[in-house]
Amino acid sequence: MIYFDNAATSWPKPPEVSKSVLEAIEKAGNPGRGAHESALWSSYKLYETREKIASLFCIREPLRVAFTLNATHALNAAISLCMGEIITTSMEHNSVLRPLAKRGFYNTIQADQKGRLDPERLIDAMSGITGAVVMTHASNVTGIVNDIKVVGEACRKKGILFIVDAAQTAGVIDINVNEMNIDILCFTGHKGLFGLQGTGGIYVAPHVRLKPFMHGGSGSRSFDINHPVDMPECFEAGTMNTHGIAALNAGVEFVQKVGVRNIERHEARLREYFVSKVSDIPGVRIYDDSRCRHVGVVSITIPGADCSSISNYLSKRGIATRPGFHCAPLAHKTIGTEETGTVRFSFGYFNKFEEIDYACNVLEEYIKEHVG
Ligand SMILES: Cc1ncc(COP(=O)(O)O)c(C=O)c1O
Repeated sequence: MIYFDNAATSWPKPPEVSKSVLEAIEKAGNPGRGAHESALWSSYKLYETREKIASLFCIREPLRVAFTLNATHALNAAISLCMGEIITTSMEHNSVLRPLAKRGFYNTIQADQKGRLDPERLIDAMSGITGAVVMTHASNVTGIVNDIKVVGEACRKKGILFIVDAAQTAGVIDINVNEMNIDILCFTGHKGLFGLQGTGGIYVAPHVRLKPFMHGGSGSRSFDINHPVDMPECFEAGTMNTHGIAALNAGVEFVQKVGVRNIERHEARLREYFVSKVSDIPGVRIYDDSRCRHVGVVSITIPGADCSSISNYLSKRGIATRPGFHCAPLAHKTIGTEETGTVRFSFGYFNKFEEIDYACNVLEEYIKEHVG
């Protein structure tokens, strides 16, 4: 399989990731729920993983990182901490849009037709009633990376909580929570961090007021009927996914070993190569803006052809892509693809240039056979 669906979940995983899951199956007990060897092994594994994540995002205190099921879980928990009006953008995933719609009282800043967000427009929208900004670091439809540093600076000056959805950037673009003034960072384990599905996390800065999102066992203070309000227990009700977190540990170590900048560079080259090759195919429309910084995500359409039919054709030739709306309805409205969706190609660290050559040949064949 030629796998161009890394924005959905990364594949393949580095071999160290599989090894660490097997090791956890053999060794893991319940973390924080026992003093015997296997429980302590798990507690240590969790702490070591927090340390590696903290080092990746320049977080000073590893215990400010809590594990969650995915980015969606982390974003729901983050949004539950917000007071006042929330500012967001038209490039968000439903894991931001849906919790905001349930909560209400939010203002959506529109990106331009290319999907570029002007940070100044977002900053201008901040007012005395604004309590938080929730925004994606990179769009999962266009791949465009937003200038979160500028927004973070404005938020910090005005005392506004700054929440970043790093689902598409963790492990791919350098993130420094201090330099970027990020108060809450939400990330997923199974994309750029090469972990398993069912893992993710949330970093919450020390000055943020905490409130548990779920209530249950925490392995501590059993006679207190209230769930702990300290990090990381505040967001870790119930037994953690130790096996998945062991995988995340190995995934983050892999990212650190290769280097985030090298990963970004490789994905950027693949993306540029794809864009230049696909631009030469008559009949393909690319949703791209070469002026912007991108993660390895590109959306295309072939006017006159259905996106599912294109993706199915590619799949039959061994190429995995994703057609449709990618859980980001407003992003599609923004770039004008709300009727058709797009076919999304998303490249990862293990992709090769030859795979792109082959995919472009298959796209040409599709056009000859279906569009004429
Ligand atoms: C920008 C963005 N945010 C959030 C998510 C949600 O991630 P998860 O499904 O791991 O919760 C995704 C997943 O595709 C995404 O692309």
